[in-house]
Amino acid sequence: MKISDIMKRTLAIFVLALATGLNIHADEGMWLPSLISQRIDDMKLKGFRLEAEDIYSINQASLKDAIVLFGRGCTGELISGEGLLITNHHCGYSQIQQHSSVDHDYLRDGFWAMSREEELPNKGLTVSFLERMEDVTAVVLKGYEDGMDEDTRAGIVRTNSEALIKEVTAEGNGLRATVEALYYGNQYFLFLYREYQDVRLVGAPPSSIGKFGGDTDNWMWPRHTGDFSIFRIYADKDNNPAAYSKDNVPYRPKKYFKISTSGVQEGDFTFIYGFPGRTQEYIHSEGVRYIEETGDPHKIHMRTLRLEIMNRYQNLSQKVRIQYSSKNAGVANAWKKWQGEVKGIKKMKTVRKKQEYERYFETWAKGSEYEGITQRIAALYEEQHPYVFAADYYSESARTIEIANFALKIARLYTMDKDSAWHFDSLKAADISASFFKDYHLPIDKECFTAVMCEYDRNMPDEFKAGFHKAMMEKHGSIQSWCDHIFATTLFADQGKVAELKAEDHAKVFTDPAFEFCNKFLKWYHNDIKPNYDRINQELQLAYRDYMRGQMEFASSSNCIYAQREFYPDANLTLRVAYGHIKGYSPADGVYYTPSSTIKGIMEKDNPEIFDYNIPQKLRDIYNEKDYGQWADESGEIPVCFIATNHTTGGNSGSPVINAEGHLIGLNFDRVWEGTMSDIVFDPDICRNISLDIRYVLFIIDKIADADHLIEEMTLCHDLAH
Ligand code: ARG
Ligand code: GLU
Repeated sequence: MKISDIMKRTLAIFVLALATGLNIHADEGMWLPSLISQRIDDMKLKGFRLEAEDIYSINQASLKDAIVLFGRGCTGELISGEGLLITNHHCGYSQIQQHSSVDHDYLRDGFWAMSREEELPNKGLTVSFLERMEDVTAVVLKGYEDGMDEDTRAGIVRTNSEALIKEVTAEGNGLRATVEALYYGNQYFLFLYREYQDVRLVGAPPSSIGKFGGDTDNWMWPRHTGDFSIFRIYADKDNNPAAYSKDNVPYRPKKYFKISTSGVQEGDFTFIYGFPGRTQEYIHSEGVRYIEETGDPHKIHMRTLRLEIMNRYQNLSQKVRIQYSSKNAGVANAWKKWQGEVKGIKKMKTVRKKQEYERYFETWAKGSEYEGITQRIAALYEEQHPYVFAADYYSESARTIEIANFALKIARLYTMDKDSAWHFDSLKAADISASFFKDYHLPIDKECFTAVMCEYDRNMPDEFKAGFHKAMMEKHGSIQSWCDHIFATTLFADQGKVAELKAEDHAKVFTDPAFEFCNKFLKWYHNDIKPNYDRINQELQLAYRDYMRGQMEFASSSNCIYAQREFYPDANLTLRVAYGHIKGYSPADGVYYTPSSTIKGIMEKDNPEIFDYNIPQKLRDIYNEKDYGQWADESGEIPVCFIATNHTTGGNSGSPVINAEGHLIGLNFDRVWEGTMSDIVFDPDICRNISLDIRYVLFIIDKIADADHLIEEMTLCHDLAH
């Protein structure tokens, strides 16, 4: 078949699938904004009052122009005409942390710039606006003929994509583009961004508000976290992206959100517009089985060990608490999510249901090009799983040793010129070294080494173990003495020694035990594991491309009830729309959770003895005096969080929660624990996203921060009808 025929047919299937798709999971889906006209009728049916062009347009300013990819993993939105941007506290966390020290502990005390001069620049932080997105399948596959092998196809895709990216970013001026495969490469989309690099910290509440509940409440409902932080985008005089300069001026957005103070009620329409990171909604039962039975449980266990060590040391000293706050949160976050995910996958009987689906699929596929594809995928998974296991183990063990990663970073600053003379970038080394030692506590690293490497030793099958690991075990006799040897002899444990490094020390660096550890494991992974993983993965991707197309054809041409579903591309950190409504849920028999929380719940949890629940005295006073200003809801309380049925995932943090009128009512920041399997399988009864009520944000800025100059910059409005 020629490529144009494949495309025509694929397109026909997309259209058919959309037209006939039974709306089984009413609120499931992460939709492409440029195609939102295909959903707008459904959105309106559910309460939305605006048009598709208000959401995404290349002809006029639309909501997309008020949304940014914040860093490379969160979403943020503009809330003033002067570049003011809001995202989650946990999204700005590493910036807040970097500006913090024992003397200026912005994590503990919060930070508020009372004037533009006080706003804090952030090295490395960028925000990207989506200029436009576009189906470029025909361009990307130009030159591809049916029957060509995967390497050739990949080469064509790469060359065409690079040429396209070069063409659309020719203007410069912060333009950045990516070409992304959708539906396992059945479609390709171009995403063109404008990236701004001068983004300054404006405000953050103390962690006792912004991270209230900490990791105890993380992924949980009921929730009372004031998870927000505020930044400002700066541009040059022409409103174009520019590196930090004190001459830069606040960015003037094409669009910013009006903020609704009307709040939410059960049943209200809500819509999330942001950058979800990664989902796998169409994967095979064997892929799910691996996650449920092997991948998640092992990764959870490895992180339990590390967290226990970090927590113990962090509880002993404020300095260590600050040093490891961001690291700990990162480790704990996925750790807890995976636990909910496994429970959810089990509860939904996902593997069994997928197997059933696959059986019906094969019955339907008999005699077609799709016959046997589910068996082929199963066989590929079986072959791949030992390598996935090894990769998982590597990333949760040897890869996590801080001193080894540091050694590698420094070693990479050694270069040899063409006359074989060594050079060393000592300036950069000083930089890297300073930021490493600022947040390093050796006893933690050392104990973690022993803990995770013992697990590696115990659980990695011998035939997959790194040869280096075996040799070291032979030499040192135990993980403990191997560990003692590394930490006692490496020069990288001593900031002074690192500061003295010169070009002629290359041999010393390259034979250092911490460097050697990192380097040997890296080599093992790149020589023994990754090539096998990649080889099988390439075949899997090819099989999935067919299987994906097959699933769409199955849905559109079979009246089997198992076939029916709606199709949206898996998340890949590109801009998406998810819509649903405010709704409670029942997490367990006999329990029902209502959809919103208030300041009363904060007071119920408040406990000065428990770090995660110890709130600022000022908040207690305000509560006792009911000094709520204009921010109370109808019941007279301050609203804090709410849940809804929008389909979200990691990356959606900070996403605007938008009401039927297109106004900002909250910030997405989490999902409920019982519903975290929604990256793989969505249960409309249980999957809920958790959002911060924008009225709590305004209350905190006004009453806790006394920063009403920020509120004056915003546009508040009141929507009458619910
Ligand atoms: N669970 C949320 C997310 O996935 C919030 C994480 C930050 N908070 C924390 N306590 N670690 O990113
Ligand atoms: N907190 C997540 C984030 O950082 C969002 C929660 C989720 O996974 O849905 O994007």
